[in-house]
Amino acid sequence: MRENTIKGELKIPQHIAIIMDGNGRWAKKRLMPRSFGHKNGMERMIGLMEHAFELGVNYITVYALSTENLKRPKEELDGLFDLIRNHFKQYFGRVCERGVQLRAIGDVSLLPEDCLQILKEAEAETAQYKGKAINVAVCYGARAEIVRAANRAMEKGETLTEESFSRLLYTEDQPDPDLIIRTGKEVRLSNFLLWQAAYAELYFSDKMFPEFSDKDLDKAIEEYSRRTRRFGKTDEQL
Ligand code: IPE
Ligand code: IPE
Ligand code: MG
Repeated sequence: MRENTIKGELKIPQHIAIIMDGNGRWAKKRLMPRSFGHKNGMERMIGLMEHAFELGVNYITVYALSTENLKRPKEELDGLFDLIRNHFKQYFGRVCERGVQLRAIGDVSLLPEDCLQILKEAEAETAQYKGKAINVAVCYGARAEIVRAANRAMEKGETLTEESFSRLLYTEDQPDPDLIIRTGKEVRLSNFLLWQAAYAELYFSDKMFPEFSDKDLDKAIEEYSRRTRRFGKTDEQL
């Protein structure tokens, strides 16, 4: 897989996936409602994405809402949907106007109709952009994604290969993530990109997402750069 190089030495991952965790705890520590954490998390995510694209990253997948998160209290979910209603266009428009495609991945039919329309419009407006993309994972669960792909294959009556199966996932034509970052001190994947993560490098940060800075992303990429990705081979074979 092609990897960009800056300053001749740092390997820039082509695809970074981010589990933005810790918004609620960040807000609680400041005696603020969880919705305040989510808004600050969303704003930080936009800044981080701009920084990542400037570094030469081409694909960014953001875990914004899992299928399991739909079990959270209605008040919190309404706050998250209001973020989409009131800010999604403005924030993501800023990043996408530089030629970045936006794709919503997950069972978006579970969203309120007006939120779904906002995502669909953003997808349509950016569909012409190739080579750079943001995947926003909403109502996303990796197991559900895999079952959906398996059902699509059965409908077609196809014998699957790893490649053809990959093309039935939401990320169909995109490279797998090279680096998966999780903030918020938890060390788990929480049903995120289970198929695509097969050979991703994992990076865990103790910082809560709203305080994960551009410099913290640089640190994660530096560590990624130092790792040897063997894909099963020996050092001598690389
Ligand atoms: C992650 O932050 C964002 C979503 C799941 C929507 P959390 O809301 O999980 O924050 P913590 O883990 O409770 O701090
Ligand atoms: C994972 O975070 C989902 C997102 C970041 C959107 P959670 O906070 O929901 O994960 P768990 O429940 O602690 O595993
Ligand atoms: Mg959490």
